[in-house]
Amino acid sequence: MTANRRKILDVLNGETLSPPPIWLMRQAGRYLPEYREVRAKAGGFLDLCYTPDFAVEVTLQPIRRYGFDAAILFSDILVIPDALQRNVTFSEGRGPAMDPIKVDEISALDGDGLLEHLAPVFETVRRLRVELPGETTLLGFCGAPWTVATYMIAGHGTTDQAPARLFGYQHPEQFDYLLALLADLSAEYLIAQIDAGADAVQIFDSWAGVLGEEEFDRYCIRPVARMIAAVRARRPAAKIIAFAKGAGLLLGNYRQKTGADAIGLDWTVPMSFAVDLQKDGPIQGNLDPMRVVAAGKAMEDGIDRILEKLGNGPLIFNLGHGITPQADPANVAALVARVRGTAA
Ligand code: CP3
Repeated sequence: MTANRRKILDVLNGETLSPPPIWLMRQAGRYLPEYREVRAKAGGFLDLCYTPDFAVEVTLQPIRRYGFDAAILFSDILVIPDALQRNVTFSEGRGPAMDPIKVDEISALDGDGLLEHLAPVFETVRRLRVELPGETTLLGFCGAPWTVATYMIAGHGTTDQAPARLFGYQHPEQFDYLLALLADLSAEYLIAQIDAGADAVQIFDSWAGVLGEEEFDRYCIRPVARMIAAVRARRPAAKIIAFAKGAGLLLGNYRQKTGADAIGLDWTVPMSFAVDLQKDGPIQGNLDPMRVVAAGKAMEDGIDRILEKLGNGPLIFNLGHGITPQADPANVAALVARVRGTAA
């Protein structure tokens, strides 16, 4: 074992580690007082994402506090529509907003200047790789085409993505074009993150769970497979985690069809099915973030069950979705200690 061994990369290569390495989705965020402090200084949320001094600082905060095995670049999936000039804004309490795209605007979208617009993100990645401990895996990320498209079409977050589902039925050709464009641009974006020093990348398909089988195939699997193929065509060694939240049984062939190295699972995936999915390769997940808010026995039982059922195969311990602002930072310390077997 070398000093700089990055455990998450070992798991992505198929190794089983005990205890499993751990990081948490949204580990940099509002539950941390030190994040709220930098957030207030930065002004707007996008200023935070595009100012490397700030973005590096908030990425490192949870690493300093908890010693997670991975740092995830601090940014957002909506920087892609921002770079496409969709007028993205984030307002306190109301979440993201942008100009809802009309069907006849889609063919005019183009990725010219995309990487230039996102240059501060790559600068953040470069600085992080220098500042992080050698054993900490650095993760880059992007949104999956379907999830990014749901925001582009509705112009804001919704609970069921009815506007994007309707758009897909009414304008199938334009919708396929939009998803393919997002896949190609996101592949460029991931390659640039990898070249800047990201060890692995995660693709977030947070809204996969609202789709029927055929739409899941067309909107999620095909574009994510296209993106992964485009990344691998140029960076064959790229390590990729794909997280299709809420996809349930449709995850049965998701790894094979997309080419992802590891698949992220949310907490609704039945444990027996998770065990089956792990027979094909590494998995990541899947503690309900509400167990971290609840703490105590609810959190401990959830952790123990994951370790017992999934700890004997390649596992990256994580939540089943992002940690929420109401989680107490002390609960996260207790979570990490229990996973690592260092709890008092
Ligand atoms: O995980 C990390 O620590 C890295 C940073 C990260 C953020 N967003 C920072 C953020 C990551 C990986 C994301 C991904 C993201 N962004 C997703 C996919 C994962 C998921 O949670 O489903 C989605 C759907 C978005 C879009 C988005 N960004 C929404 C819907 C919101 C508002 C909801 C909310 O939690 O406030 C954001 C804002 C956002 N992105 C915040 C953070 C820390 C909070 C904004 C703030 O600090 O004011």
